[in-house]
Amino acid sequence: MAVLTDCLWELLKSCSLVKRRYGFMKIGCNDVTCRTLVFLSIFFLLPVAFAIGPQAALSDITASSNTTSALLEQIITGYDKRIIPKPASGGPVVVTVDIYVRSISSVDEISMRYDTDLVVRQVWTDSRLSFTLPPGVPEDSYVVGGIFMADRIWASDLFFSNSKKAYTHDITQENVLLWMWHNGTVMYNVRVSSTFMCQMDLVDYPFDTQKCVMQLGSFGHTEDDIVFVWKADYTISMNDNITLPQFGKPRPRTVLCENRHYTGNFSCLKVEFTFRRRLGYHLSQSFIPCALLVCCSWLSFWLHPDATPARAGLGVTTFLAIYTQASGVRYSLPPVSYTKAIDIWFNVCTVFIFLSLVEFAIVNYTLRHTKAKNYKVKDGKAREVDIALNQINGSPDKNTDSPSDLDTITSLRRTFEHTVSTVVPPGKRKAKTLDLVSRVAFPLTFILFLLIYFVHYYARYSFFDIN
Ligand SMILES: *[C@@H]1O[C@H](CO)[C@@H](O)[C@H](O)[C@H]1NC(C)=O
Ligand SMILES: *[C@@H]1O[C@H](CO)[C@@H](O)[C@H](O)[C@H]1NC(C)=O
Repeated sequence: MAVLTDCLWELLKSCSLVKRRYGFMKIGCNDVTCRTLVFLSIFFLLPVAFAIGPQAALSDITASSNTTSALLEQIITGYDKRIIPKPASGGPVVVTVDIYVRSISSVDEISMRYDTDLVVRQVWTDSRLSFTLPPGVPEDSYVVGGIFMADRIWASDLFFSNSKKAYTHDITQENVLLWMWHNGTVMYNVRVSSTFMCQMDLVDYPFDTQKCVMQLGSFGHTEDDIVFVWKADYTISMNDNITLPQFGKPRPRTVLCENRHYTGNFSCLKVEFTFRRRLGYHLSQSFIPCALLVCCSWLSFWLHPDATPARAGLGVTTFLAIYTQASGVRYSLPPVSYTKAIDIWFNVCTVFIFLSLVEFAIVNYTLRHTKAKNYKVKDGKAREVDIALNQINGSPDKNTDSPSDLDTITSLRRTFEHTVSTVVPPGKRKAKTLDLVSRVAFPLTFILFLLIYFVHYYARYSFFDIN
């Protein structure tokens, strides 16, 4: 086998044509395995290549440098790239556009923008670029040209009208691709990274669905010169791996539009990306923690009305905690003049916690106020008792225990005890009742609020999803 391979190798080396065409064989291929591999690839792949046909034919143009350079030379000679390639039949040049979205990232509410990485493909026909194919080459063969060729021919002045900044890539070479067919049809691919403005409406935040637009058009040519149209069956395609942290998969929709201006009408194309916010983040960061804080503030109703430090502490702590939570969310949003859904949520939760503090204040006040009244009553009665006792004690004969005096003392003591025992409870009872009512009223109202809030916003959230 080795002898046979060596023999064939020498034969191949002696064949100058092959040597010239397949220069790679010279590259240190001395061991038997390598040579065998080269043979196998030549003898098995050549028939396959012929069988494939058209694709192989493309390389007929590009591989044989002689033909390609001759063709390119033929195309460029006498070509003026400043002239718009309007068709001979009249009318504007029609540029068919399609876009491949490589990535979308950083959909940002504060600066209201999003980043994209796109490949924009434009196809038009420039009859000046037509050439005659070498004999035997299939009709749909094309010449591939890079940036050097792209620089020499006319290209449309497509621009993104709502981009804040955009750039093309030039690592390792300018990311431009040009295919030219013999009938003058040109396909011009360019990779662009761009940041687009997106006016977001945050009224329903975080139950919102944002529609962000990307607008393309001719910068300087009116509809009389250039008309852009979407490619019929393939307007926009997206990379399947696009994921956004807060949104579901963006859904694109292509629209035709017209840019009316006093200088003329400009053809334009529009892509509308729909970003639907996912609720998971806000459920775990805003809704559940705040609902728990509100529930926490209700614990106060189960504490004794006299437990002032515990109840005040609980109320103030939950109040501060919810305030911190709300400011955290506020910092990730722009300062807009309208009320957002999340603001309603935080404000209502804060009001609930505030009301539980107020309830405690009322309970405490009721308790102390009635106590103070009791003491007054008690003081008055006590004085009466004291006077009575002094009268008895101050009488000249201390040893006489007249039944009338004893009666007075007993009756006075009874009045005193009665006063104390009947006046103290109403205050305490009032406070207790207030706590009991709050235990039921607060949770019920909060559940009612939860129902109204979530049903309302979730309905809107689902409605925008359908539309
Ligand atoms: C290249 O083209 C020229 C003129 O068309 C021809 O004379 C020459 O033989 C070609 N060379 C090769 C290597 O095919
Ligand atoms: C030119 O040829 C290509 C490839 O065969 C084809 O796709 C394209 O539609 C043709 N253009 C015109 C204007 O006929």
